[in-house]
Amino acid sequence: MKRVCADVVVDLQFGDCGKGKVVHCLASEREYTHVMRFNGGFNAGHTIYHEGKKFVTHLTPAGVFHGIRSVVAGACVVDVDKLLQEIKDLEKLGIPASDLLRVASNAHITTRKHVAEEENEQKIGTTRTGNGPAYRDKHARIGRRAIDDPRLSHLLTDPYLELWGSDADVYVLMEGAQGFGLDVDWGDYPYVSSSSCTVAGAVNAGIPPQSVMEIVGVAKPYVTYVGTKKFSGDHPGLAEIQRVGQEFGATTGRLRQCNWLHLPLLSMAANVNGVNKLIMNKIDVLEAVGEFRAFVDDSRDSIKFSSVEKFKTFVEDYMFSKCPNILDGEIIWSSSPEKI
Ligand code: IMP
Ligand code: MG
Repeated sequence: MKRVCADVVVDLQFGDCGKGKVVHCLASEREYTHVMRFNGGFNAGHTIYHEGKKFVTHLTPAGVFHGIRSVVAGACVVDVDKLLQEIKDLEKLGIPASDLLRVASNAHITTRKHVAEEENEQKIGTTRTGNGPAYRDKHARIGRRAIDDPRLSHLLTDPYLELWGSDADVYVLMEGAQGFGLDVDWGDYPYVSSSSCTVAGAVNAGIPPQSVMEIVGVAKPYVTYVGTKKFSGDHPGLAEIQRVGQEFGATTGRLRQCNWLHLPLLSMAANVNGVNKLIMNKIDVLEAVGEFRAFVDDSRDSIKFSSVEKFKTFVEDYMFSKCPNILDGEIIWSSSPEKI
Protein backbone atom coordinates (compact mmCIF):
# COMPACT_ATOMS: atom_id res chain seq x y z
CA MET A 1 0.00 0.00 0.00
CA LYS A 2 1.31 3.45 -0.92
CA ARG A 3 2.38 5.69 1.95
CA VAL A 4 2.86 9.44 2.23
CA CYS A 5 4.83 10.39 5.32
CA ALA A 6 6.78 13.41 6.44
CA ASP A 7 9.22 14.99 8.83
CA VAL A 8 8.63 18.64 9.69
CA VAL A 9 11.13 21.33 10.62
CA VAL A 10 9.74 24.39 12.42
CA ASP A 11 11.30 27.41 14.07
CA LEU A 12 10.17 27.88 17.69
CA GLN A 13 11.11 31.54 18.08
CA PHE A 14 11.07 34.51 15.66
CA GLY A 15 12.81 32.98 12.66
CA ASP A 16 16.55 32.91 12.03
CA CYS A 17 17.30 29.97 14.31
CA GLY A 18 19.11 27.92 11.68
CA LYS A 19 16.36 25.93 9.96
CA GLY A 20 18.43 26.12 6.77
CA LYS A 21 21.26 24.20 8.41
CA VAL A 22 18.94 21.58 9.90
CA VAL A 23 17.01 21.02 6.68
CA HIS A 24 20.20 20.81 4.63
CA CYS A 25 21.60 18.25 7.05
CA LEU A 26 18.45 16.09 7.23
CA ALA A 27 18.07 16.15 3.44
CA SER A 28 21.58 14.75 3.05
CA GLU A 29 21.09 12.02 5.69
CA ARG A 30 17.64 10.62 4.95
CA GLU A 31 16.02 9.13 1.85
CA TYR A 32 13.50 11.85 1.12
CA THR A 33 11.61 11.84 -2.16
CA HIS A 34 10.64 15.50 -1.71
CA VAL A 35 11.54 18.63 0.22
CA MET A 36 8.63 21.02 0.50
CA ARG A 37 8.57 24.63 1.67
CA PHE A 38 5.17 25.13 3.29
CA ASN A 39 4.67 28.79 4.21
CA GLY A 40 5.72 32.37 3.51
CA GLY A 41 7.49 33.79 0.51
CA PHE A 42 10.51 35.96 -0.19
CA ASN A 43 10.38 37.40 3.32
CA ALA A 44 12.42 34.39 4.47
CA GLY A 45 16.15 33.99 4.16
CA HIS A 46 17.66 30.57 4.74
CA THR A 47 21.42 30.48 5.11
CA ILE A 48 22.88 27.22 3.87
CA TYR A 49 26.50 26.08 3.80
CA HIS A 50 26.88 23.54 1.01
CA GLU A 51 30.22 21.97 0.13
CA GLY A 52 32.02 24.81 1.85
CA LYS A 53 30.10 27.59 0.08
CA LYS A 54 27.53 29.92 1.63
CA PHE A 55 24.11 30.20 -0.04
CA VAL A 56 21.16 32.34 1.02
CA THR A 57 17.89 31.10 -0.44
CA HIS A 58 14.57 32.86 -0.01
CA LEU A 59 11.97 30.52 -1.44
CA THR A 60 13.78 27.51 -2.93
CA PRO A 61 13.59 24.45 -0.65
CA ALA A 62 16.92 22.95 0.39
CA GLY A 63 16.29 19.69 -1.52
CA VAL A 64 17.87 21.26 -4.62
CA PHE A 65 21.29 20.94 -2.98
CA HIS A 66 20.90 17.16 -2.79
CA GLY A 67 19.19 16.33 -6.08
CA ILE A 68 15.79 15.98 -4.36
CA ARG A 69 12.57 17.19 -5.93
CA SER A 70 11.72 20.46 -4.19
CA VAL A 71 8.23 21.90 -4.07
CA VAL A 72 6.91 25.31 -3.10
CA ALA A 73 3.57 24.39 -1.51
CA GLY A 74 0.18 25.96 -2.09
CA ALA A 75 0.19 28.01 1.10
CA CYS A 76 3.28 29.94 -0.03
CA VAL A 77 3.27 33.21 -1.93
CA VAL A 78 5.54 33.50 -4.95
CA ASP A 79 7.22 36.60 -6.34
CA VAL A 80 7.75 35.21 -9.83
CA ASP A 81 10.53 37.61 -10.91
CA LYS A 82 12.48 36.85 -7.79
CA LEU A 83 11.92 33.10 -7.99
CA LEU A 84 13.12 32.94 -11.60
CA GLN A 85 16.16 34.98 -10.59
CA GLU A 86 16.86 32.73 -7.59
CA ILE A 87 16.72 29.67 -9.84
CA LYS A 88 19.13 31.33 -12.30
CA ASP A 89 21.54 32.27 -9.54
CA LEU A 90 21.53 28.73 -8.15
CA GLU A 91 22.06 27.27 -11.64
CA LYS A 92 25.08 29.54 -12.11
CA LEU A 93 26.56 28.10 -8.96
CA GLY A 94 26.05 24.56 -10.22
CA ILE A 95 22.80 23.70 -8.38
CA PRO A 96 20.26 22.18 -10.83
CA ALA A 97 17.32 24.17 -9.44
CA SER A 98 15.23 24.41 -12.61
CA ASP A 99 15.04 20.62 -12.99
CA LEU A 100 14.25 20.02 -9.34
CA LEU A 101 12.03 22.91 -8.27
CA ARG A 102 8.27 22.91 -8.75
CA VAL A 103 5.55 25.31 -7.64
CA ALA A 104 2.10 24.11 -6.52
CA SER A 105 -0.48 25.45 -8.95
CA ASN A 106 -2.58 26.85 -6.08
CA ALA A 107 0.25 28.97 -4.59
CA HIS A 108 -0.51 32.69 -4.74
CA ILE A 109 1.45 35.33 -6.60
CA THR A 110 3.09 38.32 -4.96
CA THR A 111 2.75 41.07 -7.55
CA ARG A 112 4.80 44.25 -8.12
CA LYS A 113 1.80 46.12 -6.73
CA HIS A 114 1.97 44.13 -3.48
CA VAL A 115 5.65 44.97 -3.14
CA ALA A 116 5.08 48.67 -3.97
CA GLU A 117 2.37 48.84 -1.34
CA GLU A 118 4.91 47.97 1.35
CA GLU A 119 7.63 50.30 0.13
CA ASN A 120 7.24 52.65 3.09
CA GLU A 121 5.76 50.24 5.59
CA GLN A 122 6.78 51.25 9.12
CA LYS A 123 4.17 49.94 11.53
CA ILE A 124 5.24 46.28 11.77
CA GLY A 125 8.70 46.58 10.27
CA THR A 126 7.99 44.01 7.56
CA THR A 127 10.57 42.73 5.12
CA ARG A 128 8.80 44.87 2.45
CA THR A 129 8.54 41.90 0.14
CA GLY A 130 4.78 42.29 -0.38
CA ASN A 131 4.00 39.31 1.81
CA GLY A 132 1.11 40.76 3.82
CA PRO A 133 -0.66 42.29 0.79
CA ALA A 134 -0.33 38.99 -1.16
CA TYR A 135 -1.89 36.97 1.67
CA ARG A 136 -4.55 39.66 2.17
CA ASP A 137 -5.62 39.37 -1.47
CA LYS A 138 -5.58 35.57 -1.27
CA HIS A 139 -7.97 35.61 1.67
CA ALA A 140 -10.11 38.34 0.12
CA ARG A 141 -10.41 35.96 -2.87
CA ILE A 142 -9.03 38.48 -5.34
CA GLY A 143 -5.52 37.02 -5.65
CA ARG A 144 -3.78 35.52 -8.69
CA ARG A 145 -2.42 32.02 -8.42
CA ALA A 146 0.60 30.29 -9.89
CA ILE A 147 -1.64 28.53 -12.39
CA ASP A 148 -2.70 31.95 -13.75
CA ASP A 149 0.86 33.10 -14.47
CA PRO A 150 2.35 31.93 -17.78
CA ARG A 151 5.90 32.64 -16.55
CA LEU A 152 5.51 29.71 -14.18
CA SER A 153 3.95 27.22 -16.59
CA HIS A 154 7.13 25.11 -16.88
CA LEU A 155 7.39 24.83 -13.09
CA LEU A 156 3.81 24.05 -12.12
CA THR A 157 2.71 20.94 -10.29
CA ASP A 158 -0.66 19.80 -9.01
CA PRO A 159 -0.47 19.84 -5.17
CA TYR A 160 -2.51 16.63 -4.78
CA LEU A 161 -1.00 14.59 -7.61
CA GLU A 162 2.52 15.60 -6.58
CA LEU A 163 2.14 13.53 -3.40
CA TRP A 164 -0.71 11.17 -4.17
CA GLY A 165 -0.69 10.76 -7.95
CA SER A 166 1.53 7.67 -8.28
CA ASP A 167 1.85 4.30 -6.53
CA ALA A 168 5.32 5.20 -5.26
CA ASP A 169 5.86 5.91 -1.56
CA VAL A 170 6.49 9.53 -0.66
CA TYR A 171 8.73 10.66 2.19
CA VAL A 172 8.79 14.44 2.36
CA LEU A 173 10.77 16.86 4.44
CA MET A 174 8.53 19.82 5.24
CA GLU A 175 10.55 23.01 5.55
CA GLY A 176 8.95 25.86 7.49
CA ALA A 177 9.79 29.54 7.25
CA GLN A 178 9.65 32.33 9.88
CA GLY A 179 8.74 31.00 13.34
CA PHE A 180 6.21 30.49 16.10
CA GLY A 181 6.53 34.06 17.41
CA LEU A 182 5.69 35.36 13.91
CA ASP A 183 2.82 32.94 13.23
CA VAL A 184 -0.32 34.83 12.21
CA ASP A 185 -2.39 33.06 14.89
CA TRP A 186 0.11 32.24 17.66
CA GLY A 187 2.55 35.12 17.32
CA ASP A 188 2.53 38.51 19.02
CA TYR A 189 -0.18 40.06 16.80
CA PRO A 190 0.05 42.45 14.99
CA TYR A 191 3.86 42.02 15.01
CA VAL A 192 3.57 38.84 12.99
CA SER A 193 3.95 37.58 9.46
CA SER A 194 0.87 36.57 7.48
CA SER A 195 1.22 32.79 7.24
CA SER A 196 1.03 29.64 9.37
CA CYS A 197 4.50 28.77 10.58
CA THR A 198 3.57 25.72 12.67
CA VAL A 199 3.04 22.04 11.86
CA ALA A 200 -0.55 23.00 11.01
CA GLY A 201 0.81 24.83 7.97
CA ALA A 202 2.80 21.74 6.99
CA VAL A 203 -0.04 19.22 7.12
CA ASN A 204 -2.17 21.64 5.13
CA ALA A 205 0.01 20.78 2.13
CA GLY A 206 -1.62 17.34 1.85
CA ILE A 207 0.18 15.39 4.57
CA PRO A 208 -2.05 13.22 6.77
CA PRO A 209 -1.35 14.35 10.36
CA GLN A 210 -0.89 10.75 11.56
CA SER A 211 1.81 10.27 8.93
CA VAL A 212 4.07 12.91 10.41
CA MET A 213 7.04 10.92 11.67
CA GLU A 214 9.34 13.45 13.30
CA ILE A 215 8.76 17.07 14.27
CA VAL A 216 12.02 18.94 14.67
CA GLY A 217 11.88 22.25 16.51
CA VAL A 218 14.75 24.66 15.98
CA ALA A 219 15.66 27.41 18.44
CA LYS A 220 18.61 29.43 19.75
CA PRO A 221 19.78 29.67 23.38
CA TYR A 222 18.81 33.37 23.21
CA VAL A 223 16.10 35.07 21.16
CA THR A 224 16.30 37.48 18.24
CA TYR A 225 13.56 39.43 16.49
CA VAL A 226 13.48 41.80 13.53
CA GLY A 227 10.71 44.38 13.43
CA THR A 228 9.46 47.57 15.04
CA LYS A 229 8.34 46.43 18.49
CA LYS A 230 10.76 47.02 21.34
CA PHE A 231 12.25 43.65 22.07
CA SER A 232 15.86 43.86 23.14
CA GLY A 233 16.92 44.08 26.77
CA ASP A 234 19.42 46.54 28.23
CA HIS A 235 22.06 44.12 29.48
CA PRO A 236 25.42 44.77 27.73
CA GLY A 237 25.79 41.02 27.09
CA LEU A 238 22.94 41.28 24.59
CA ALA A 239 24.84 43.73 22.37
CA GLU A 240 27.74 41.28 22.52
CA ILE A 241 25.48 38.44 21.42
CA GLN A 242 24.29 40.58 18.50
CA ARG A 243 27.90 41.26 17.48
CA VAL A 244 29.39 37.80 18.04
CA GLY A 245 26.34 35.99 16.63
CA GLN A 246 26.30 38.27 13.56
CA GLU A 247 22.61 38.81 14.14
CA PHE A 248 21.62 40.67 10.98
CA GLY A 249 18.62 39.78 8.80
CA ALA A 250 19.48 37.52 5.82
CA THR A 251 16.78 39.21 3.72
CA THR A 252 16.96 42.86 4.79
CA GLY A 253 20.35 43.21 6.49
CA ARG A 254 18.61 44.81 9.48
CA LEU A 255 19.97 44.41 12.99
CA ARG A 256 18.20 41.66 14.90
CA GLN A 257 17.12 42.75 18.39
CA CYS A 258 18.40 40.28 20.99
CA ASN A 259 17.14 39.10 24.34
CA TRP A 260 17.62 36.19 26.73
CA LEU A 261 16.06 32.81 26.14
CA HIS A 262 12.35 32.85 27.02
CA LEU A 263 11.49 29.40 28.32
CA PRO A 264 7.69 29.79 28.63
CA LEU A 265 7.54 30.82 24.95
CA LEU A 266 9.89 28.00 23.91
CA SER A 267 7.86 25.34 25.72
CA MET A 268 4.59 26.72 24.35
CA ALA A 269 5.97 26.65 20.81
CA ALA A 270 7.25 23.09 21.32
CA ASN A 271 3.88 21.92 22.66
CA VAL A 272 1.71 23.58 20.01
CA ASN A 273 3.91 22.02 17.33
CA GLY A 274 4.23 18.64 19.08
CA VAL A 275 8.01 18.82 18.81
CA ASN A 276 9.83 15.49 19.44
CA LYS A 277 13.33 16.69 18.79
CA LEU A 278 14.68 20.09 19.85
CA ILE A 279 17.77 21.57 18.25
CA MET A 280 19.36 24.51 20.06
CA ASN A 281 21.72 26.18 17.60
CA LYS A 282 24.42 28.79 18.18
CA ILE A 283 25.41 27.71 21.68
CA ASP A 284 28.95 28.72 20.64
CA VAL A 285 27.78 32.35 20.62
CA LEU A 286 26.69 32.24 24.26
CA GLU A 287 29.91 30.45 25.19
CA ALA A 288 31.97 33.15 23.47
CA VAL A 289 30.04 35.90 25.26
CA GLY A 290 30.17 34.03 28.57
CA GLU A 291 26.79 35.20 29.87
CA PHE A 292 24.05 32.59 30.44
CA ARG A 293 20.57 33.81 31.29
CA ALA A 294 16.95 32.85 30.74
CA PHE A 295 13.47 34.11 31.54
CA VAL A 296 11.41 31.51 33.35
CA ASP A 297 8.23 33.58 33.67
CA ASP A 298 6.83 36.88 32.43
CA SER A 299 8.62 39.01 35.03
CA ARG A 300 11.22 41.42 33.71
CA ASP A 301 14.07 39.64 35.46
CA SER A 302 16.08 36.90 33.87
CA ILE A 303 17.88 34.29 35.94
CA LYS A 304 21.62 33.92 35.63
CA PHE A 305 23.65 30.69 35.42
CA SER A 306 27.29 30.42 36.41
CA SER A 307 28.29 28.09 33.57
CA VAL A 308 27.14 26.80 30.22
CA GLU A 309 26.66 23.32 31.75
CA LYS A 310 24.30 24.70 34.42
CA PHE A 311 22.41 26.64 31.77
CA LYS A 312 22.00 23.57 29.53
CA THR A 313 20.90 21.33 32.41
CA PHE A 314 18.32 23.88 33.54
CA VAL A 315 16.93 24.30 30.02
CA GLU A 316 16.75 20.54 29.49
CA ASP A 317 15.03 19.92 32.85
CA TYR A 318 12.58 22.74 32.16
CA MET A 319 11.72 21.53 28.66
CA PHE A 320 11.43 17.86 29.60
CA SER A 321 9.13 18.78 32.50
CA LYS A 322 6.83 20.97 30.36
CA CYS A 323 6.89 19.27 26.96
CA PRO A 324 5.65 15.66 27.00
CA ASN A 325 6.40 15.09 23.31
CA ILE A 326 10.13 15.82 23.43
CA LEU A 327 11.77 12.40 23.50
CA ASP A 328 14.43 11.40 25.97
CA GLY A 329 17.86 12.58 24.86
CA GLU A 330 16.38 14.59 21.99
CA ILE A 331 17.55 18.04 23.02
CA ILE A 332 20.58 18.69 20.90
CA TRP A 333 23.00 21.58 21.44
CA SER A 334 24.60 22.70 18.22
CA SER A 335 26.79 25.51 16.94
CA SER A 336 26.46 28.31 14.39
CA PRO A 337 25.82 27.08 10.83
CA GLU A 338 29.24 28.20 9.52
CA LYS A 339 30.95 26.05 12.16
CA ILE A 340 29.79 22.81 10.55
P1 IMP B 1 6.55 40.21 6.69
O1 IMP B 1 6.57 38.72 6.80
O2 IMP B 1 7.49 40.74 5.67
O3 IMP B 1 5.15 40.72 6.53
O4 IMP B 1 7.07 40.80 8.08
C1 IMP B 1 6.34 40.65 9.30
C2 IMP B 1 7.30 40.48 10.47
O5 IMP B 1 7.95 39.21 10.35
C3 IMP B 1 8.43 41.51 10.54
O6 IMP B 1 8.73 41.73 11.90
C4 IMP B 1 9.59 40.80 9.85
O7 IMP B 1 10.84 41.30 10.25
C5 IMP B 1 9.37 39.39 10.33
N1 IMP B 1 9.89 38.36 9.41
C6 IMP B 1 9.34 37.92 8.26
N2 IMP B 1 10.08 36.94 7.72
C7 IMP B 1 11.11 36.73 8.57
C8 IMP B 1 12.20 35.81 8.58
O8 IMP B 1 12.36 34.95 7.70
N3 IMP B 1 13.07 35.90 9.63
C9 IMP B 1 12.89 36.81 10.63
N4 IMP B 1 11.88 37.68 10.67
C10 IMP B 1 11.00 37.65 9.65
MG1 MG C 1 16.04 33.67 8.21
